[in-house]
Amino acid sequence: MVSTIYALLFYVATIILVVGVGMRMWRYAKTPAPLKIPTTPAPTTAWGVFWRMVREVVLFQSLFKSNKWIWLFGYLFHVGMLVVLLRHFRYFTYDIWWWVGLVQPFAIYAALAMFAGLAGLWGRRFLVERIRYISSPSDHLMLALLVGIVISGISMKTLNPTDIVLVKGFFLGLMRFQINELPTDPPLLIHLTLVATLMIIFPISKLLHGPGILFSPTRNQIDNPREKRHIAPWAKKLEE
Ligand code: HEM
Repeated sequence: MVSTIYALLFYVATIILVVGVGMRMWRYAKTPAPLKIPTTPAPTTAWGVFWRMVREVVLFQSLFKSNKWIWLFGYLFHVGMLVVLLRHFRYFTYDIWWWVGLVQPFAIYAALAMFAGLAGLWGRRFLVERIRYISSPSDHLMLALLVGIVISGISMKTLNPTDIVLVKGFFLGLMRFQINELPTDPPLLIHLTLVATLMIIFPISKLLHGPGILFSPTRNQIDNPREKRHIAPWAKKLEE
């Protein structure tokens, strides 16, 4: 019974995540950028823009320039999450890829980095007056959801281990359209419920800033307005 409910939950959540993010990306890609608005100093070549985007994604460069504290907490959280997610690949492939094996020992440090980052980012929403003023319930809920995922994950890793062989069997089964037994210990069920919730709200939440950064005109435009006239596709149609 529990296995069936969670199987359906994860099928629905996966469809909403994939279709939802796909539709959002399509809309971002189609939205015209009528003006040249790269934040200067900006690269003047396509390669330059490529490297600028790499630095944004890998180092959070512009956040570093604007606020060192948010950068530190945000970076801790995201790097921790990257390691944790790479480690989770072991539940979705039968043979564990060698690089997934390599990151296994760092799980607890990565989880603590995520927690420290989230605590800093959440603390700032209470402690910094002007940030508290603009914080909406959804900002808090999103942080609460992530903290819940991290705490339930750490609890399984330390105090309440779950049967990870069964967890793996369950998710490998889902990928082959069969429903296998899922352990029913509360930390695992809480972890999975929160993860499915995250997947469902992701396409309508501020967490879209992840893929969205790639579509930001202030970052992805080439600074060449004198060499090349910039005309948005819809304006081109008007000219014809
Ligand atoms: C369907 C997806 C997921 C499954 C099946 C899953 C399952 C698990 C399991 C079984 C553990 C315990 C690991 C152990 O005992 O060694 C764990 C730990 C953890 N999970 Fe997840 N999880 C999922 C998604 C996520 C997501 C999306 C996040 C973060 C955003 C996350 C964050 C964590 C953290 C921080 C830990 C503790 C550190 C670690 O063991 O890696 N999990 N998860």
